[in-house]
Amino acid sequence: MRLKELASKRALGFLNWRRGRRKRFAPGTIELLVDDIKALAPDHIAVTGDLVNVGLPAEYQTGLVFLRSLGAGDKVTVIPGNHDAYVRSTAHHALLNWGEYMRGDSAEADRAADQEAFPFVRRRGDVALVGVSSAIPTNPFMATGRVGRAQLARLAGVLDQLGREGLFRVVMIHHPPCGHRAAHKRLLDAEGFRACLARHGAELVICGHDHRPMVEQLPGPHGLIPVVEAPSAAAGPEDRRWPGGYHLYRIERQDGNAWRCEMEARGFAPGDPTVARRTVRVLAAPPRAPV
Ligand SMILES: [Fe+2]
Repeated sequence: MRLKELASKRALGFLNWRRGRRKRFAPGTIELLVDDIKALAPDHIAVTGDLVNVGLPAEYQTGLVFLRSLGAGDKVTVIPGNHDAYVRSTAHHALLNWGEYMRGDSAEADRAADQEAFPFVRRRGDVALVGVSSAIPTNPFMATGRVGRAQLARLAGVLDQLGREGLFRVVMIHHPPCGHRAAHKRLLDAEGFRACLARHGAELVICGHDHRPMVEQLPGPHGLIPVVEAPSAAAGPEDRRWPGGYHLYRIERQDGNAWRCEMEARGFAPGDPTVARRTVRVLAAPPRAPV
């Protein structure tokens, strides 16, 4: 790392990482998880961030290497986290470097690399992935996020359209829109996001940010929408509270207006370095709206 690249905030993040995360985030454990994912060969992989730590240009390249280890751009979808927009000078690097993993299917998705690129939509069979950006550059020690009114308005239209198509809508957002966390880590317009979902609906929301697996629910127009926080993919079995892992979803269209969404948590257990199935549960996805 070149010292001149360390702006004030990045220096703080760097020190933070050196003191706290360096021991905890071991590359070897990520490789074990990636090997497990690849052995199971899911149809698609969704990454809810963060991918970089202090936003140095070289880190975006490392992030790209990681994404390529997961698969090609049409098989892997990523959204930015707060660290991925860590300081204003490199906030656009996530889009520039990871564009093939962070854009929608349509030609219009190739428009300018800025916030208007979100939300983007990818259709994969019965499933539609909706990539929301809550990444904003923040002041030192802050890890807040914001979707913004303009993106929320676009999200409303996107959810309506995909609902009319009868697809299983998976909304990806880095900052969880519900649950408890420190004020400096929250989604600033969580209320607006929840109101958008309550009105326009989704079948599943997946998040990152807190590094602890959690399942919550938000009201939707036809029932409760599961909101799932993914564990860290970079924590090892030595983490006694939140060892690393990931969630494997099986989504099936049922008769009538129903979906079945099974979530398998795979990863390490405290002190157990084997990547294995840990829990399986069926998430109560709301019934499909009549088409
Ligand atoms: Fe984060």
